[in-house]
Amino acid sequence: MAKRILTGDRPTGPLHLGHYVGSLQNRVKLQDEYDTFVLIADIQALTDNFERPETLETNVLEVATDYLAVGLDPGKVKIVVQSMVPELTELTIYYMNLVTTATLERNPTLKEEIKQKNFTKGLPVGFYTYPISQAADITIFKADLVPVGEDQLPMIEQTREIVRRFNRLYKKILIEPRAMIGKVARLPGTDGGAKMSKSIGNCIYLGDSPEQLRKRVMSMYTDPTRVHPTDPGHLEGNPVFTYHDVFNPDKAEVGDLKERYVKGAVGDVEVKEKLYKALNGFLEPIRAKRAEYAAKPALVREIIVEGTRRGRAVARETMEEVRAAMKIAYKF
Ligand code: TRP
Repeated sequence: MAKRILTGDRPTGPLHLGHYVGSLQNRVKLQDEYDTFVLIADIQALTDNFERPETLETNVLEVATDYLAVGLDPGKVKIVVQSMVPELTELTIYYMNLVTTATLERNPTLKEEIKQKNFTKGLPVGFYTYPISQAADITIFKADLVPVGEDQLPMIEQTREIVRRFNRLYKKILIEPRAMIGKVARLPGTDGGAKMSKSIGNCIYLGDSPEQLRKRVMSMYTDPTRVHPTDPGHLEGNPVFTYHDVFNPDKAEVGDLKERYVKGAVGDVEVKEKLYKALNGFLEPIRAKRAEYAAKPALVREIIVEGTRRGRAVARETMEEVRAAMKIAYKF
């Protein structure tokens, strides 16, 4: 039997280049080799959007369209909507007994997000416990491999801990998953910040039009110490060159630009123009495919429904095993 992949995204808006290099690229590459399930984690998105739940439906479709646009093949990959698999919620509750609050408190990604989201009315328990629900996501599908961005590593670690505890305590039925990080562990934002984040507005989206793309590239952060094109420039921490390295297939051009940049023999505009061209070349086929699917919303819905149906079948099987292992499969 083929090994399984489970990974997913919160549907908080369209996906960006950070998602692509962190995880989407690996999913596309591995879809022939692995039995792949991709989860649109709308319940997780709800944990910090519960005051505007009406935003979720559009975003679910948006994310599904992005998946198809980057080349996930609906004939192979199962696109699953989290809220349409209620078994996930059940498993999350059982797992809650296996996790201490101290462990959650130590989770660095969770800590960082709590700081960032600035919950003014107090920290919702739903948000605080989302790593547990994510462990349910991964394990209900018995995933071996989880392709994710670097920031998700603590979630996989939490999942492995739960699996070890469950298997020791009840019965060895769960699989301890491995994380797989993208070729580029973390793509910086257009502002030079650590990562692309919708709330900061430093993203380049997979569906950006050429005009939007040009605007984002031309206003990118570069080297703040460089005032004139004749000043020697710095490549480290300069997202324009990070993007060139990742997305420009013309390595000779990138080499030449770098050489001239550090010498002070090229202007930012030329470097950015060439980056725009490279990125646009990369996004063009994705954009075209995206438009095809966006024109057929009924087809996208059908793909989601079918993927979810197949995902739920797996989830139901796992839950039968889980209840039996926990001795709560009562015969009443
Ligand atoms: N936490 C992930 C994110 O913010 C989304 C996610 C939910 C996920 N469930 C998952 C990722 C299971 C991997 C596996 O992007």
